[in-house]
Amino acid sequence: METKWVKSPEGTIDKVAMAEAGRIIRAGGLVAFPTETVYGLGGDALSPDSSRKIYAAKGRPSDNPLIVHICRVEDMARIVREVPPQAYVLAEHFWPGPLTMIMKKADIVPPETTGGLDTVAVRLPNHEVALEFIREAGGFVAAPSANVSGRPSPTLAKYVYEDMDGKIEMLLDGGEVGIGVESTIIDLTEEIPVILRPGYITWEMLQEVLGEVCLDPTMLEHDRPEAPKAPGMKYKHYAPQGELTIVSGTSQNVQNEIRRLLQNDREQGYKTGVIVSSDEAWVYEADAVKVTGEKEDMAAVARSLFRILREFDDEKIDRMYVQAFAQDGIGQAVMNRILKAAGHKIIEV
Ligand code: TXA
Ligand code: MG
Repeated sequence: METKWVKSPEGTIDKVAMAEAGRIIRAGGLVAFPTETVYGLGGDALSPDSSRKIYAAKGRPSDNPLIVHICRVEDMARIVREVPPQAYVLAEHFWPGPLTMIMKKADIVPPETTGGLDTVAVRLPNHEVALEFIREAGGFVAAPSANVSGRPSPTLAKYVYEDMDGKIEMLLDGGEVGIGVESTIIDLTEEIPVILRPGYITWEMLQEVLGEVCLDPTMLEHDRPEAPKAPGMKYKHYAPQGELTIVSGTSQNVQNEIRRLLQNDREQGYKTGVIVSSDEAWVYEADAVKVTGEKEDMAAVARSLFRILREFDDEKIDRMYVQAFAQDGIGQAVMNRILKAAGHKIIEV
């Protein structure tokens, strides 16, 4: 199959391409599209066959459920058995936006889409191209991140193409995404809502709106005995081909340790990389010094992290280092992804 790559310059919508993308989905095909978080790999959420195709294209285990993307709040009630009042409160505050809600599913959502669970994940993204595409596609688009399972989620169309060329009918290119980490997932099937995956909508923001909100315990410690409630959180993720190590401690100690490690690696002939803020870029000598943004700008780290991990692969970097960030606000989402990318390899200094 040939994958048609359609570029639509920032802020514009190619109506013809949108109509074609919609037709592809309604005919059971797959289209990758931009959202405000990362690129999604879309298929008809109400078709078992389309969901099977998504799993095949990603190489993803089929017990890992997909998020159903909608373009109007009122469509939520069609795929959810009973909409809890909290869902409307959250929709009012955060939709369209990077928040996914888990609720009991209605019968029209096939088990293939929900990985066999009796719940469904619903999200209304904040991206013009995504919304127009979902509308054209019939209103219910199942979409995981558009990467091959295990690789960093794509924040640029070229990385979608790298992973999906020949496996999907069309790629809608909307340029680089704005947020860079996947949506926050909140489970509304428990008495007290539980965050299953941290994201741009933070724990603090959710508590402000809902009152008490818990964190899935497996999110904080990776060696918990129980499995995470979002099945996808148990898999190895975002891993670059080389080895990423996190260094945690005071900034002076972290700098010294990373410099020492980099030198050591270089002496052994490894290609080295480091992720830093602009004020610290001069501190390090490495084959690839990747700058996220200004010091303590966590939104910039979120936005650039997956791109940087992919660039490390492009440049065949063997050993990479990053400092540990404070886990408040969006730092929680960033550290969650970095810990996974590093396979939880962390050095305390
Ligand atoms: O920002 C995002 O959410 C992106 C864009 C494309 O919208 N999508 C995304 O999808 O990150 P994916 O498939 O890569 O991650 C979905 C996560 C997985 O960890 C999955 O296990 C969890 O959501 N999930 C989906 N449905 C669920 C359900 N019914 N119960 C618990 N977890 C669920
Ligand atoms: Mg994913």
